[in-house]
Amino acid sequence: MYFAGVDIGSTFTKIVIIDSKGDIISKVIVPTRAEQRKLANKIMIEALNQANLSLNEINYIIATGYGRFNVPFADRQISELTCHAKGVSALFPSVRTAIDIGGQDLKGLKIKDGKLVNFIMNDKCAAGTGRFLEVMADLLNLSLKDLGEISLKSKRKVEISSKCTIFARHEVMEKISENVPIEDVIAGLHYAIADRIVRLVSQISIEPDIVVTGGVAKNIGVVKAIEDLLGYKVLVPEDPLITGALGAAIIGKNIVEGALSRGEEIRVGCRRLEEVELYW
Ligand SMILES: Nc1ncnc2c1ncn2[C@@H]1O[C@H](COP(=O)(O)OP(=O)(O)OP(=O)(O)O)[C@@H](O)[C@H]1O
Ligand SMILES: [Mg+2]
Repeated sequence: MYFAGVDIGSTFTKIVIIDSKGDIISKVIVPTRAEQRKLANKIMIEALNQANLSLNEINYIIATGYGRFNVPFADRQISELTCHAKGVSALFPSVRTAIDIGGQDLKGLKIKDGKLVNFIMNDKCAAGTGRFLEVMADLLNLSLKDLGEISLKSKRKVEISSKCTIFARHEVMEKISENVPIEDVIAGLHYAIADRIVRLVSQISIEPDIVVTGGVAKNIGVVKAIEDLLGYKVLVPEDPLITGALGAAIIGKNIVEGALSRGEEIRVGCRRLEEVELYW
């Protein structure tokens, strides 16, 4: 049997297909675009091709993320908090606190025995999310991927006092015009975002083991700043973007296995292969 999870986030769309052992047999990550239904169909085809499967061979499909209602072939939609909790618990069964830093959302999750027991999310503000670093990378004419490594060279990070992305942007421009080394500015930005993150997630009391996920977990500078402020080491999955999609696929697997064990029929939605081809 095969199970798929599709996570349409604000910035990246992710799909994961797992087999009945729970092993990942294919995954695709693409930037999210306005035409989300079309994108969902496109990445499903890519993931099926990678796994050498057809859509009808997928036993259950769960969609998550803010665009979860735009996945035409999904059998069910489940909130990303539930899916992230499931995904990180499958990777790290000892996790008690998960911090997901996406392009637009910052989420803190408290997990007990693999289940979500509490959560907190940012208000509608870019500070503390990937968007903050996207704005800064753009301003500094650097690739997002390079920020982490550059910041590790810093000997004396600057203090970025602004809590707001727009004001912090002005502060960065000022520091650069004062010839402050770029690595010290970037390290300061990483501490500023880490401070927002730790302050928010502390409201649900942070307990180890702690895992950091979402695209921003790929930034080693942010991860180190979080560890420094928390006073704990954190875990980072090998691919931190896919935990929501993975959790969605695992929940689908549990639904099917549960139904089979009770002798119940599994109701899936229309597989709409023609529509997939039409959209493609
Ligand atoms: N290689 C990388 N290095 C540094 N940052 C990265 C990298 N790849 C992605 N990011 C950051 O990750 C963010 C997107 O992460 P993710 O895919 O988890 O978000 P999302 O799920 O689309 O958003 P949300 O959960 O907020 O709806 C981007 O804003 C970007 O800043
Ligand atoms: Mg996300």
